[in-house]
Amino acid sequence: MQSPFWQPELETLSAADLAALQVQRLRATMERALRSPYYGEALRRAKVTPADIRTPADIRRLPFTTKADLRAHYPFGFLTMPLRETVRLHCSSGTTGNPTVIFHNRHDLDSWANLVARSMYCAGVRDADVFQNICGYGLFTGGLGFQYGAEKLGALTIPAGAGNSRRQVKLMQDFGTTAIHAIPSYLPRLYDEFVELGLDPARDTKLRIILTGAEPHSEAARGRIEAMFKCKAYNSFGLSEMSGPGVAFECERQDGMHLWEDSFILELVDPETLEPVPEGARGELVLTSLDREAMPLLRYRTRDLTSLIPGSCACGRTHRRIARITGRSDDMFIIKGCNVFPIQIEKILMNIPEIGSDWLIVLDTVGDGDELIIQVEVSQEHFTGDLAVLAQVRKRIIHEVRDEVLVTPSVHLVEPGTMPRAEGKARRVEDRRRDRGG
Ligand code: COA
Ligand code: AMP
Ligand code: ZN
Repeated sequence: MQSPFWQPELETLSAADLAALQVQRLRATMERALRSPYYGEALRRAKVTPADIRTPADIRRLPFTTKADLRAHYPFGFLTMPLRETVRLHCSSGTTGNPTVIFHNRHDLDSWANLVARSMYCAGVRDADVFQNICGYGLFTGGLGFQYGAEKLGALTIPAGAGNSRRQVKLMQDFGTTAIHAIPSYLPRLYDEFVELGLDPARDTKLRIILTGAEPHSEAARGRIEAMFKCKAYNSFGLSEMSGPGVAFECERQDGMHLWEDSFILELVDPETLEPVPEGARGELVLTSLDREAMPLLRYRTRDLTSLIPGSCACGRTHRRIARITGRSDDMFIIKGCNVFPIQIEKILMNIPEIGSDWLIVLDTVGDGDELIIQVEVSQEHFTGDLAVLAQVRKRIIHEVRDEVLVTPSVHLVEPGTMPRAEGKARRVEDRRRDRGG
């Protein structure tokens, strides 16, 4: 029987039919958005109505939406319906103060699960697979997002969660896991666990497909992962603001990620001018949700930099493909699958009286995993050689940073005046990790 998650009536639409569907869905999305306090005002101010949309390009008449807008109108400013009609919320990591929160009603959860199931099918996962989701649950969208998508697809799904590699190996062996989802920087750590146990995943498991994403990684990193596990690894792209995973996904050709254009309108803009970039050029990805009811987002600036892959894909899907994400147009970084803005760490450090004015975040690959290292100068006044005080300061930083960004940092306290002075604007993040982006 044909799977309901190969959806040629949507996935292979002609350009003209896709444009017609986008116009119809964009108008409906705007009608809904107008019911939210934020867009009610923003669209009125922009003097644009759903009737003004005649082609997908008319989307340029709408204002952009940013993370700052979401935070400024936290928690309910973007909601289009009474809370009793919603059934779930997710928050994204990587914000100070108010997080960005996304509400879903039943329709939203169902269409999101459908997109994840379609994405998994597109990468070759089938209902007979045993799928282990090695990713944070709770507010992280990769947990429940893949869970519901995989269940919808019909795969036996193991909600393994992040960490505890030994148990991951046991689950994979005991239940005959054939497909996993994990972030790229964790996969070498998982492989090493196999090696430490004297096992070889290619020989000692039934693993045949890896889904990986949520953070920038290069083609070389993918190659290394595929060589370790001796199976294909497919790139998965999503963001909480657009529900989570299931926005763009590689097909079995592994040549860029199909962005599901029946559910999102994609634009690539110059982050400075906000004008569309020329065909094939790199720009910031801007997304509009087309199938979300509780909290649609119009022209959301993702800050992710990518380009479009030219030409059509041999798989037959017509939705355009984005290239690997190669960077961001802001200073957010991702470590161990958690989003972090340097300002979150700065705020913590600057509230500690024993800390001087210089500090640096180093992101490094240490052994088989990534580390968040914070180098900070102790202030002259507090650098007295009292080790108990220094130990206390280190403990406080570790504790507060872990609370704020969910990752445990290594903290190196250094003598005042020993950190290299930057000329001009201080460089606060040094990324020395292997195989990022590109
Ligand atoms: N996914 C899976 N496991 C991860 C991980 C990730 N993103 N990041 C780290 N781990 C593993 C570590 O290898 C370690 O495993 P071990 O028990 O086998 O040694 C364990 O989790 C603890 O990691 P550690 O680095 O010691 O702890 P931490 O306090 O710095 O990080 C985590 C804590 C892992 C809980 C936190 O980084 C997290 O929740 N990450 C998940 C992020 C995520 O899933 N994002 C969504 C992607 S869609
Ligand atoms: P979150 O909102 O926590 O789901 O984080 C979303 C962000 O993770 C995106 O905006 C990207 O910066 C990053 N991201 C997600 N998927 C990928 C991927 N496949 N490659 C690179 N970065 C990714
Ligand atoms: Zn394809």
